[in-house]
Amino acid sequence: MNKQITRRGFIRNAAAGSAALTWLSTQTAPRALAAETAKPALLGGAPVHPGGWPSWPTWREAWEPAVLKVLRSRRWFRGSGENVGQFETAYAQLLGAKRCLATASGTTALLVSLHVMDVDAGDEVIVSPYTFIATYNAILVNKALPVFADTDPATLTMDPASIESRITDRTRAILPVHIYGMPCDMDPINAIAKKHKLAVVEDACQAWLAEYKGRKCGVLGDLGCFSFQESKHLPSGEGGAVTGDSDALLDRCQSFHNCGRAYGSFRGERSYFTRGSNYRMQHFQAAILLQQLEKLVTDTARRGEHADYLTAELKQIPGIQPARLPDRSRAVWHLYPFRYDASQFHGLSRDQFIRALGAEGIPTSSGYAEQYHDGLLDEAINSRGFKRLFSAERLKAYRESFNDLKGNRQVCATTVALTQNMLLAERGDLEHIVAAIRKIHAHSAALAKAAS
Ligand SMILES: Cc1ncc(COP(=O)(O)O)c(C=O)c1O
Repeated sequence: MNKQITRRGFIRNAAAGSAALTWLSTQTAPRALAAETAKPALLGGAPVHPGGWPSWPTWREAWEPAVLKVLRSRRWFRGSGENVGQFETAYAQLLGAKRCLATASGTTALLVSLHVMDVDAGDEVIVSPYTFIATYNAILVNKALPVFADTDPATLTMDPASIESRITDRTRAILPVHIYGMPCDMDPINAIAKKHKLAVVEDACQAWLAEYKGRKCGVLGDLGCFSFQESKHLPSGEGGAVTGDSDALLDRCQSFHNCGRAYGSFRGERSYFTRGSNYRMQHFQAAILLQQLEKLVTDTARRGEHADYLTAELKQIPGIQPARLPDRSRAVWHLYPFRYDASQFHGLSRDQFIRALGAEGIPTSSGYAEQYHDGLLDEAINSRGFKRLFSAERLKAYRESFNDLKGNRQVCATTVALTQNMLLAERGDLEHIVAAIRKIHAHSAALAKAAS
């Protein structure tokens, strides 16, 4: 259990485990209450939640004709059919964005956006360290340096107060990540970007329909990036999108993702005019996505309602701290995280807590680790290219700066997260999550003793 569980592997598996009782809520259902007083499953008792959890992704028979239609049309390539364009229009509308460009993945959406915002070799991008590794990679592939802002332990997102001290004359952009579907505090981030003339690219790859002060994530900076990979709330196996309000930027995104062809050209009728690559979405992907837009809206509302219930209940348990959201914002919960304080559980370690919850039928993970210690960045900064692009002093200071990420270290060491599919279960199942955590709290002394 010491090893971090990968999120995608975890989601696949998730579908398949004293005196403290005085604070039990009067709201708790009798069955759940009984479960809390029983012996923990890890110590031989019955699990609180023997049933499974909703599987993910899902499909409906009603979606099949749309996919079959693409197959039979023999128009599979973006330049020859309509589905991708239709999806772009519909997704932009859903987000309140002027434009949307569908891409092959979230990673390619980030690559397109960073290129268009002129992030070049030798530049620096200020980024959230608490994210999926693709965010780091998109910067590194551009031969730019991902400079990590710290993470606010209360929100788990980029701490705006940590940005300015990290800006150098090489900084081109800020890349905040709405991690787990929780909006970053974008007003101060945008204000800093404006003051220093930096681009803002939102990594909204986990934040479809999340809201910040009345606007959707993905339209809060210069460009927003989304992922439609299989684990995501709007999945098409692989897929992504860039969103924004600037025609000029989106025209350039279109060209770059289409081998550098002139905007709107797919058949070489006009000459190539810019650098580019092939990051196009296929019509099969778009057909599946179009079918799911309504479901995305209803699923999001259900997850939101269940997350609100969890937050209200879990914050009453000593040692459990749900994430704080910025004012007037709505998270969409790709994962539902909370911070775990072992000192309130008789020193029961986070890994043991996760194990005990798993035995109760509640699968959780420890979220992201301090990935800057995992070797990827050492590999990059020791490469010939990076050594050419940055001075030895800069790279040394950069390497040492990882030790300053105290907030992020705290978050990585104490977070426990449920997956989004669990928030789609029935209300009674959600009550089991609360009951299982209360049960572990009540028996934490015995569990800690058994673990030692
Ligand atoms: C925060 C974040 N950024 C970027 C990506 C990359 O998206 P994709 O897997 O579609 O390339 C993901 C996907 O897992 C993500 O969660």
